[in-house]
Amino acid sequence: MAFDANSNTLISDWGNGPASRVRNEVTRFNHRLAETGLFEDESLAKLLDSHPYEDLTICTMRPNPPAFERWMAGDARGLNGAELLDAIKRGQFWISPRHVMTANPVYAALFRRLMAEYTKATGLTIASADGALILSSPNMGVFYHVDLAETMLWHIRGHKTIHLYPAQAPYVSEASLESILLKENLTDLPYSPEFEPGADRVDLGAGDAVSWPVHSPHRVLNGPDLNVSISIEYTTPRTVMLNGVYYFNGRVRRATGVNLSAERTPALFKPAKAVGAKAMKMLAPIKSTVESTHERRFDIDLAQKNCIAWRGQAPDWAV
Ligand SMILES: [Fe+2]
Repeated sequence: MAFDANSNTLISDWGNGPASRVRNEVTRFNHRLAETGLFEDESLAKLLDSHPYEDLTICTMRPNPPAFERWMAGDARGLNGAELLDAIKRGQFWISPRHVMTANPVYAALFRRLMAEYTKATGLTIASADGALILSSPNMGVFYHVDLAETMLWHIRGHKTIHLYPAQAPYVSEASLESILLKENLTDLPYSPEFEPGADRVDLGAGDAVSWPVHSPHRVLNGPDLNVSISIEYTTPRTVMLNGVYYFNGRVRRATGVNLSAERTPALFKPAKAVGAKAMKMLAPIKSTVESTHERRFDIDLAQKNCIAWRGQAPDWAV
């Protein structure tokens, strides 16, 4: 069925309950993104052909990776969009054309429409939003981590399961959030299998979407097929204030050794701390202590096993 931009909405169904429950609950809903035709093979190949190569994230990992395992970065120079898509279907990759939902005019228009519908339905005040298109191979995954903004996943093709954990200790600590905000750490968190009984497991098929409360840790495992999804992060005044409090506490703790707690901060003082955090960022910006570029460990090669030509020693799981 083709998407009729005049009579169809992109969100087709809010499930059981009002859309405003996205503020506090894991919320499942349904969408019609597939009907736009923008996520079929031909469109995706065209999109990859037109996307700047330097804005392409390419990684590989062990199939069905453990919850704590990070990825390895690679290259795919010389491949056109159709070849790259073929490699994703046959190989072991997680590929994201960065900024496509804001830089590509066609996909950016769709993203603006999607966010306008979401904002209207939920009644949220959204300060900023960004979307990442993710194309991933069968049995790939995303390790246990937390995002600093509100996050949701709109799934378009294939199957995946997202494991969502409560936004509280022991799943995520205030110290972890502070160190991510202070750029001492990336978004990954310490993981323990003991967290599993507390997890909410959500299976996603084509047309399913899920949103979860801010700072809820999560991890993802793909099913045995090609996955196409859009991961969306957005900020609301509440998120900005909450992150401001964590940032403020983190800076004070590091400067003075005084232990402040976001959980125990009275609601009345939170705006003042958030303003303080903004001032601190301007007066004394933090230099990131984490490595932002990754060594390229492989090249995508359609003639090789799993379409990977390793540069140097292949990891144990690939041999
Ligand atoms: Fe995430």
